[in-house]
Amino acid sequence: MPVHVDAEVIATRRAGAYRVLSLAAPGVADGFRPGMFVAVTVGTGSLGRRSLWIHRVRESGTHGACLDVVVEPRGQGGTWLAGRRLGDRVPLTGPLGRPFALPREPVACLLVGEGVAAASLFTLAERLRERACPVTMLVAADDEAHLVSTLEARRLARAVTVATADGSVGTRGSAEGVLGAVLTSSGAQVTYAAGSPALLRAVAEAARVRELSAQVALAPPMPCGTGLCGACLVPVQDSVGAAHWVRACVEGPAMRADRVRWDAAPQAGGAPWPH
Ligand code: FES
Repeated sequence: MPVHVDAEVIATRRAGAYRVLSLAAPGVADGFRPGMFVAVTVGTGSLGRRSLWIHRVRESGTHGACLDVVVEPRGQGGTWLAGRRLGDRVPLTGPLGRPFALPREPVACLLVGEGVAAASLFTLAERLRERACPVTMLVAADDEAHLVSTLEARRLARAVTVATADGSVGTRGSAEGVLGAVLTSSGAQVTYAAGSPALLRAVAEAARVRELSAQVALAPPMPCGTGLCGACLVPVQDSVGAAHWVRACVEGPAMRADRVRWDAAPQAGGAPWPH
């Protein structure tokens, strides 16, 4: 059950091009499962709300369970959020959305994360490890500064592949470019992905061809996060192939990749989903 709280910023640190905010948000961590997110009120009201992936949930001696969120200081809202300091308060609702489904058996899993969206996969890796699932991670970004927590990925996964578009670290190129090879070497039976629509579509297609299970974290703009504004519509098909639209913030963000009508979804990273 989501709760609405005035979260307190209890730590803040730079992580490459991002800012990581640790938030004391009483009650929010209680119902959290990997893949869920929080909706944050940005600014003094004129900037609206932002949906943020929950990167980590951890115990803080003084404040109980706290959340880490990764903020990209881009645009008015992102810049405002990244500028929060110790003791600042941020109105926040969460946890929101549907989480990733976890495998019942301890099967090998590949987690593919691109840019800031990769933040959503780290608590998932922890839960999979607790279930004895061997975890491989593929983390990609434009450059080294936009990779999320590769050190943490190496702690959580038995193997990590890094790809950057500019070649500043890891393999030069995109996650799509190395996806096939990593899928094969990982022996994964289940794949989870978070990133641009183009990457999610590539993961969905690779899983379909190999007859693997795949889940994707959908991230169209989600200004309200609670199903009210209708800004986050995603084209899907049901079990008999009938096409319709769902709200990513309510029926997602985590969803089976084969439910999405990728031919009706955007191709380019970062583009808004059509509706
Ligand atoms: S973000 Fe408003 S309905 Fe989904």
